[in-house]
Amino acid sequence: MIPLQFKPELYRFKTVTSTNDKLKELALKGAPEGTLVLAEHQTRGRGRLGRHWHSPLGGFYISALLYPLTPKQITDLPFLMGVCVIQTLSQILPKIFDTSLKWPNDVLVNQKKIAGILSEAFGENEFYGGIVGVGININTSLQQLEDFQEQPFQATSVTALMEGEQVKLEEVLEVFQLKLFNLYRFYQEKGFAPIRALWERNCMMIGKKVQLKGVEFTTGAVEGIFSGLSDRGGLLLDTGNQGERTEVLSGDLTCFWQ
Ligand code: BTN
Repeated sequence: MIPLQFKPELYRFKTVTSTNDKLKELALKGAPEGTLVLAEHQTRGRGRLGRHWHSPLGGFYISALLYPLTPKQITDLPFLMGVCVIQTLSQILPKIFDTSLKWPNDVLVNQKKIAGILSEAFGENEFYGGIVGVGININTSLQQLEDFQEQPFQATSVTALMEGEQVKLEEVLEVFQLKLFNLYRFYQEKGFAPIRALWERNCMMIGKKVQLKGVEFTTGAVEGIFSGLSDRGGLLLDTGNQGERTEVLSGDLTCFWQ
């Protein structure tokens, strides 16, 4: 259990291939629960579904080691991290910006992607746990992000939103650590339900018409109203007038914002 006055071990690097990979190395050597790896730049930053995560200088790239956990708890981690990123950004950005979570593990501001989360399991028995990494575009210019535009959600960064103003990465780190460990302790005490409620409250796509493409749907796309998250982090999709509800466990989401 993470204690109240928790001081995590923080490893800082100028360049790594991937903070998740570096943290995995440390975990296999016995790094304690809560260890963090922070890098200024990643040469092989990894995203969801084997995608590359473009990681130039100016971004915030961090991974956290959380254990012991059950396999079910590992699936909760991206949602917990999503709430943590929203809380961190809310403290950094002026209130006028419209922050939202996007299922399953993206964070948007003004409908553009500002952060992505990658959660992975590691170890076994009492060392079974999760490595959850997040990349947030902080002082990254739109030019630096050009190669990395994902359609239909384009990328954005804190500096682009604030017309070139820069934010100190140390400040981001301080806020992020506090939010992460407070949320994690809350999760250890109360379980997934209140984290799910916080996630849902911060997801502007809930109640909207969405389309899903991807691994579960071999015959193209499925559309419906995004009605919430299931207990295992699935997307609950209302697909008809008769109250038909489907649980989707993976896929690529597009929102029609109607
Ligand atoms: C995605 O949007 O597909 C997820 C991107 C996750 C990127 C972060 S950056 C820190 C950590 N290290 C990695 O290699 N990936 C995650």
